[in-house]
Amino acid sequence: MESVDNMKQPIRLAALLLFVLTSLLFSTSPTHSQRAPNVEQRVNELLARMTLEEKLGQLQQLDGEGNGNFRPEHLDMIRKGLLGSTLGVRGAARTNQVQRVAMNESRLKIPVLFGFDVIHGYRTIFPIPLGEASSFDPTLAERSAAVAAQEANNVGLRWTFAPMVDIARDPRWGRITEGAGEDPFLGAAFARARVRGFQGDDYGAADKILACAKHWVAYGNAEGGRDYNTTDLSENTLREIYFPPFKAAVDAGVGTLMSSFNAINGVPATANAFTLTKVLRQEWKFDGFVVSDYTAVKELINHGVAGNEEQAAALALNAGVEMEMVSRSYNQFGPQLLKQNKITQATIDEAVRRILRIKFRLGLFDHPYTDEAREPNALLRPESIRLAREIAGRSMVLLKNERETLPLNKNIGSIAVIGPLADDRRVPLGWWSGDGKEENTVTPLAGIKAKVSPQTTVLYAKGCEVKDDSTAGFEQAVNIAKQADVAVVFVGETHDMTGEAASRSTLDLPGRQMELVQAIHATGKPTIVVLVNGRPLSVGWIVNNAPAILESWFGGSESGNAIADILFGDVNPGAKLPVTFPRTVGQVPIYYNHMNTGRPPEAENRYTSKYYDAPWTPLYPFGYGLSYTTFKISNLQLSAPRINASGKITVNVDVENTGRRAGDEVVQLYIRDLVATMTRPVKELKGFQRISLQPGEKKKVEFVLGPEHLGFWNREMRYVVEPGEFRVMVGSNSVDVIEAKFDVAPN
Ligand code: BGC
Repeated sequence: MESVDNMKQPIRLAALLLFVLTSLLFSTSPTHSQRAPNVEQRVNELLARMTLEEKLGQLQQLDGEGNGNFRPEHLDMIRKGLLGSTLGVRGAARTNQVQRVAMNESRLKIPVLFGFDVIHGYRTIFPIPLGEASSFDPTLAERSAAVAAQEANNVGLRWTFAPMVDIARDPRWGRITEGAGEDPFLGAAFARARVRGFQGDDYGAADKILACAKHWVAYGNAEGGRDYNTTDLSENTLREIYFPPFKAAVDAGVGTLMSSFNAINGVPATANAFTLTKVLRQEWKFDGFVVSDYTAVKELINHGVAGNEEQAAALALNAGVEMEMVSRSYNQFGPQLLKQNKITQATIDEAVRRILRIKFRLGLFDHPYTDEAREPNALLRPESIRLAREIAGRSMVLLKNERETLPLNKNIGSIAVIGPLADDRRVPLGWWSGDGKEENTVTPLAGIKAKVSPQTTVLYAKGCEVKDDSTAGFEQAVNIAKQADVAVVFVGETHDMTGEAASRSTLDLPGRQMELVQAIHATGKPTIVVLVNGRPLSVGWIVNNAPAILESWFGGSESGNAIADILFGDVNPGAKLPVTFPRTVGQVPIYYNHMNTGRPPEAENRYTSKYYDAPWTPLYPFGYGLSYTTFKISNLQLSAPRINASGKITVNVDVENTGRRAGDEVVQLYIRDLVATMTRPVKELKGFQRISLQPGEKKKVEFVLGPEHLGFWNREMRYVVEPGEFRVMVGSNSVDVIEAKFDVAPN
């Protein structure tokens, strides 16, 4: 025995040595924790050795050349200590090449921080964030962000410009696709989950990256839904609607924020001391750093608050923007601003301190490189692809299903797959698709072919394009519909009609797509419509005429498989809309949690708050979505008829699966403060739970409401829970609810 053990000893020692060496060489060990005790000391020691130029260099971020390449000038700047971070430079070998310059050739050996927009996946692409929010299951967002972080980390990235947590009440705004929709409570839950997914407990750990909550703040309120546009809104609305997802991200430990492009009540967000310093630093105690949006510092000139770049630099830095993305005003004008006392040494030092603090917490100084050997096996892992399919299936919303048109039978004789988005590989990846590749995308046509029985005939015709005006393909599409038992038509938007700089002035289906659907429907064949899009669309004709509609969003790499899973009943849809669908763009902004008016709409009374030429109700309300089974929500019980302002109340309901299939229901809880010193929303989401039930199964669902749910920001800008009556509503969407009331007692 002894001799065998002795023989093992050298092997153990060698293994131990190898482990220690790998841990030292590569940033894969969780030992370089953000909780490392001596971060502040190391920051201060380093800061004391830095020249003014080196300090300003840390505040600079520049973008790469595209395709992951750095620019030749980057290396020289890094060598001189004049560049702290890059945007878009990626690939383990490339980032290592750049990092070697920082670590071997620069005076202070401060590592470069490599950032990129990893929004809903890096190579494995998940549904767009608006789609993922439809799952009403934040744990899914946490899991997809974790995969995105793992892939990104292995290609040398350490920082993502995500999550985008802007509340969006205006579907004309293309960036609605990037967030969690219109509701601050849902938005906060998804913000928290995504930060956790990217960063874990320690963003310096293996397979994790630093997150960036953006765009701080109110970017989603852009006037007219026009991107980059100004905003004008009360502090109450800021605090109650636009801040909560950011607060949730900060509370979840997000390391960075990005300042937004828009002005807020006359002060651009990138020069806004109220939001950047008072709220973020003083009230919320945020100790990370803020990066400007792309050239937003220089854009202060166009906003008209700075006469030149020098003034722009002073405004942004003094307000609390530490890192400047792409424009170079800090670097160029920092020294003279300091000389003229327009910025102070303390302000520069504090900015550098915050950036270095994050670099130390990331473990970059101790583990600056990426293990190049790991990169090939890090992407598109089978379990990542499986997860992408699962999440896509749980994110798609069944909007209509008359007479159980869906699910289809896999043994169906023939199926006509029609539409410009039926076999498109690019569109399902959505805007900001990381390094997602078309060749890794499953289209709906491929997903359907893989799903049906060998005897089923699958016919395909494109019919038309999304964007152009030709109807030349209609005839073929109509012909195959006539030959088939059922037609499934894929219509919507292309990926580049959403996202940045993609505001639309109409929410109609672009091009001739609506006519295509009408032509197919006119054949008399059951016409199922699958929407492929990144924002709410006004598709009233389809809602009134098609027997079944599935909202598939831009579902990511596995979109086509997930759609087939739902169409053929392997997955029972359970997602709900995280945003209101208007009937017409003229109703925008339309959102469920609006204030009441003195004249709430009444059908028979002209002089009430409504439209002359359109209904006031939406096409689909917030929280709406169907399942292949049915649910009954009943027996709403409150734990007490009255509570104190600081007290809690428990709300219970019974939820029963009354149909024939297992399925998920998202039980939603809303409140209304009936009489207050300020007008209050007619409904506010304050709880949701997605639960699974077998046919006939019944479960109790419990919610707890406390002061954090019942209060609001009053006229003195204090958060208060006011005494009086509250209505509690629980239901399967924001309209179909059962209700009860309770009182908050006077103090
Ligand atoms: C966008 C940001 C993005 C940045 C870097 C900007 O134009 O507004 O969301 O993170 O570019 O790509």
